[in-house]
Amino acid sequence: MHVIYFNTKGGVSKSTLCLYSARQLQRTGYQISVSNTDQQQHVELIKNNDAEYHLYDTAGAFTDANIRLLKAASTVDAKIIIPICTGKTDAYEVDFVLERLTQYGIRNKAIFVLTKTRANCLSTKLRRIELLGTGVPVVNWTMPLLEDFSEQRDTLRTCTEISKFLNEVVLV
Ligand SMILES: Nc1ncnc2c1ncn2[C@@H]1O[C@H](COP(=O)(O)OP(=O)(O)O)[C@@H](O)[C@H]1O
Ligand SMILES: [Mg+2]
Repeated sequence: MHVIYFNTKGGVSKSTLCLYSARQLQRTGYQISVSNTDQQQHVELIKNNDAEYHLYDTAGAFTDANIRLLKAASTVDAKIIIPICTGKTDAYEVDFVLERLTQYGIRNKAIFVLTKTRANCLSTKLRRIELLGTGVPVVNWTMPLLEDFSEQRDTLRTCTEISKFLNEVVLV
């Protein structure tokens, strides 16, 4: 299974979700690899030919490397995780992104996840409804805004939260 964290928007938690997913999957005993199409290399790369889960952190744009990766995803078991925040400007590029995913034949592999927010606040609920209108699924779990995530601490809270994400999206 290939799990690609992608959105053209920056700062939406692509790298953070990838990093925490990788750590938690490893902790749970899965074989994983981590690759990166982002020059900033925010996530530690892990090479593993026996990986059950291949994770990809990406740059926030349709770079050549991202286009190659996304096109390749059409031929394999893959999920395109699109982290998205709840701010007004955060949805501006959604149609553009989905149009491209359709073009690459992977729109049916896309799934939105709401990040850096609270599950029950109005902006989260409204963004969820707006996103569901595209026909692309939205993960029930939302990634809470937590200092432990920005400080990259592995706490009970971050581990529990990421486990919920993995159980709903990846380990199914
Ligand atoms: N759930 C969260 N709570 C608090 N801070 C977060 C959370 N997710 C990400 N961050 C912080 O927000 C910034 C952008 O996150 P990052 O994962 O680098 O986004 P992207 O890779 O999409 O550009 C980083 O400083 C990161 O530590
Ligand atoms: Mg990043």
